[in-house]
Amino acid sequence: MKAFIVNRYGKNEKLQLAEIAEPVVKKNDVLVQIHAAGVNQLDSKLRDGEFKMILPYKTPFTLGHDVAGVVTKVGSKVSKFKVADQVYARPADHRIGTFAEFISINENDVALKPKNLSMEEAASIPLVGLTAWQALVEKANLKKGQRVFIQAGSGGVGTFAIQLAKHLAATVATTTSAANIDLVKSLGADIIIDYKKDDFETILKDYDVVLNSQDAKTLEKSLRILKPGGKVISISGPPGPDFGKEINANWFLKIVLKFLSAGVRKKAKRLGVNFSFLFMRAQGEQLSQITKLLESGAIKPVMDKVFSFEQTNEAMAYVETGRSKGKVVVKLR
Ligand SMILES: NC(=O)c1ccc[n+]([C@@H]2O[C@H](COP(=O)([O-])OP(=O)(O)OC[C@H]3O[C@@H](n4cnc5c(N)ncnc54)[C@H](OP(=O)(O)O)[C@@H]3O)[C@@H](O)[C@H]2O)c1
Repeated sequence: MKAFIVNRYGKNEKLQLAEIAEPVVKKNDVLVQIHAAGVNQLDSKLRDGEFKMILPYKTPFTLGHDVAGVVTKVGSKVSKFKVADQVYARPADHRIGTFAEFISINENDVALKPKNLSMEEAASIPLVGLTAWQALVEKANLKKGQRVFIQAGSGGVGTFAIQLAKHLAATVATTTSAANIDLVKSLGADIIIDYKKDDFETILKDYDVVLNSQDAKTLEKSLRILKPGGKVISISGPPGPDFGKEINANWFLKIVLKFLSAGVRKKAKRLGVNFSFLFMRAQGEQLSQITKLLESGAIKPVMDKVFSFEQTNEAMAYVETGRSKGKVVVKLR
């Protein structure tokens, strides 16, 4: 089958289009013929080698973390899916590779595709949808009437997270640049801050939750807009000791993680607020809940651009500009 693979780590390295063997289908796996694959910042970061310590993929490997497609084979122990089911998924770490014609995924990481979504729309959802879910529902336990600050409301995570937070009946503040104000307004954001003109720290006060996706300075400011006991969940780092435990890190990595997050943890403690890092994970059950929200219309996909499979490197370059409005997808079929 055809696949876009990382042959060598590096910022200027392009993915290579290669002919590789079809994936092996283990007893709990479904084989998915890929119709569309979502593109994420994580793909570029992995290719650049930024995640080598945490996710040490050996080259060559197929890149890609989001998929929508059709089940063409099921393993002997599979109970939730059958051949011809239309599905979508964020395959688990160490089992990625959606920039290809087929992928084999553990059935626990898969969900039925929302019926009202095209394959391209469905492929745009899993990684960012699960990130928003794990941050706002699982970690923050966001409740009706609470106030949440979601940074970069016009991005892949932001567009989904705003809609999820509104569905949970929270008040949502967000940052974006002038060109995307109408977009975040249409998603339901209540307080919109043009980050190029205004400083959110002077506007927001006593927040319950922050979903942090920007740099260290933004993270530090975010700690100060929380009320005592408030929570900042950062998806852009720094990873801390809890994350080390989650991934079963070796002793050396555990020390590195402790060191990386020491500053922010100390500041959070001094302010009486909670800091935690989230690295989203594959989760079919949560994705099924997300399917319901998409089918009911509570959340709508926000698509920026669809590229052809041959243009996968161009799609990645577009996402790397950091300017996408919602999601970028590669279409295979
Ligand atoms: N830890 C995890 O599990 C996890 C999961 C998903 C994503 N992430 C990370 O989270 C970050 C966001 O991901 P994403 O997929 O949402 O990225 P994205 O879709 O590429 O974000 C692009 C958007 O960010 C906005 N933006 C850029 N700089 C901004 C700033 N300083 N303030 C406010 N908005 C800004 C841009 O709007 P303008 O054009 O208006 O500036 C653009 O619409 C990335 O670093 C990604 O790697 C982590």
